[in-house]
Amino acid sequence: MSTRNFNFSAGPATLPLPVLEQAKEDFLCYPGAGASIMEISHRTKTFLNVLDEAKSNIKELLGMSDDYCILFTPGGATMQFTMLAMNFLNGASADYLHVGTWATKAIQGASPHGTVRKAWSGKEDNFNRLPADDELDLDPQAAYVHFTSNETIQGIQFSRESQVNGKDLFCDASSDFLSRPTDMNKYALLYAGAQKNIGPSGTAVVILRKDLLERVPEGLPPLLDYKVLYDNDSLYNTPSTFTIYIIGLVSRWLLKTVGGLEKMHAINKNKAALLYDAIDNSQGFYKGHALPEYRSLMNVAFRLGSEELEGKFIAEATAAGLDGLKGHRSVGGCRASIYNAMPTEGVQALADFMKEFQRVKG
Ligand SMILES: Cc1ncc(COP(=O)(O)O)c(C=O)c1O
Repeated sequence: MSTRNFNFSAGPATLPLPVLEQAKEDFLCYPGAGASIMEISHRTKTFLNVLDEAKSNIKELLGMSDDYCILFTPGGATMQFTMLAMNFLNGASADYLHVGTWATKAIQGASPHGTVRKAWSGKEDNFNRLPADDELDLDPQAAYVHFTSNETIQGIQFSRESQVNGKDLFCDASSDFLSRPTDMNKYALLYAGAQKNIGPSGTAVVILRKDLLERVPEGLPPLLDYKVLYDNDSLYNTPSTFTIYIIGLVSRWLLKTVGGLEKMHAINKNKAALLYDAIDNSQGFYKGHALPEYRSLMNVAFRLGSEELEGKFIAEATAAGLDGLKGHRSVGGCRASIYNAMPTEGVQALADFMKEFQRVKG
C-alpha cells in the first residue's frame, strides 16, 4: 500500500505529515552530522541541540516558568504510574480520581508504594462522566492528588483545569498533552506517554515543579529517580534519541505551522464537533459513550445497534481508508482518536462516511 490512510488509532497514532516528511529527509543524514540522528552519540553537540530544542519548544508552547523542568523518561506513561509514587508517595497517602481505565492503572501502579485513596469514582456510571470539584472527597493529608485529564478508552475529558487548590496536583495528560492551552502553574507534575500527541512510543514527557525534587527519597534505582534524571538532563542512560528528535519536530510544527496551543485547541474543537454532530443527528443510530458535558475532544467513543453492525462499520470504514476505528478491547464498540495531527479532512471524511453508512444501513 503506497497511499496513507486516515489513521484513527489511539496510539501509536498519526503524526503530522510535515514531521514525517522532514524525518524522511533527515533519515540517512541529519544536517551537519554525516549520519542519521539515530546513529550518533547522545552526548554530541548535535544531539544536545535536538534535546534543547524539544524542551524549549514545549516550554514556549506551555508558557512555562523556570520553576519547572522537562524530563524524557523511558517506559512510557505506565512507568510513571509507579515512578511518581516511588518518588512522592513513599509510604504516605495520596488521593486519586478514579475516572476510567487509565486511572485504574495509575492506582494499581502506585498502590505498592503507599495508601491510595479514591477521592471519587465513576465506576458505577461506567466511566461516562467526570466529577465536579465539590464531589471530591479529599484527604487534607494527601501527599498529592492524581487525575487523568483525558480518559482515552472511555472518551471523557476534563474541559477545564481542576480547581483543587492548595494541593500538589499530578496529571496523566497522555492523551491530550499539548492539545490546548494549559496553565502549568496549577500542576506539580504532569506527564504524557509520547505516542498520541507528540511522537513515537516508549518515552514519557514529564514536567515537574523543581521544588518537588527535594522530596525524592534517597536510594531509589537511578532510572526511577527524578532527581537523577534532572541532574543528568534526561541523559543518565542512553535515551530514545529518535523519539526526542521527533518530539522536537512535532513541537516545532505546533509552534511554527499551527501557531500555538490556542489555535490547536480551536482546530481540535472544530474537528470533534464534526463527529459529535454526526452522532447527535443520527436519531440514535450512533450512541456516544460519554455524557455530552464530558465528551473528549481527542477520543470519540461510540456504539452502533449491535456488535455485528459495528463489525461492518469498522470493516467498511477500513476499506474506505479510515483506519483504526475499533474501540479498545476492554469496552468494544468504535473509537475515533482525533489527536492534534489528525487533519480536519480526515475527520470530515469520517463524518461523511458515518452519515452514508447510516443512510444505507439505518
Ligand atoms: C491516558 C493514558 N495514560 C497512560 C497510558 C499508557 O501509556 P504507555 O503505553 O505509554 O505506558 C495511555 C495509553 O497508552 C493512556 O491513554
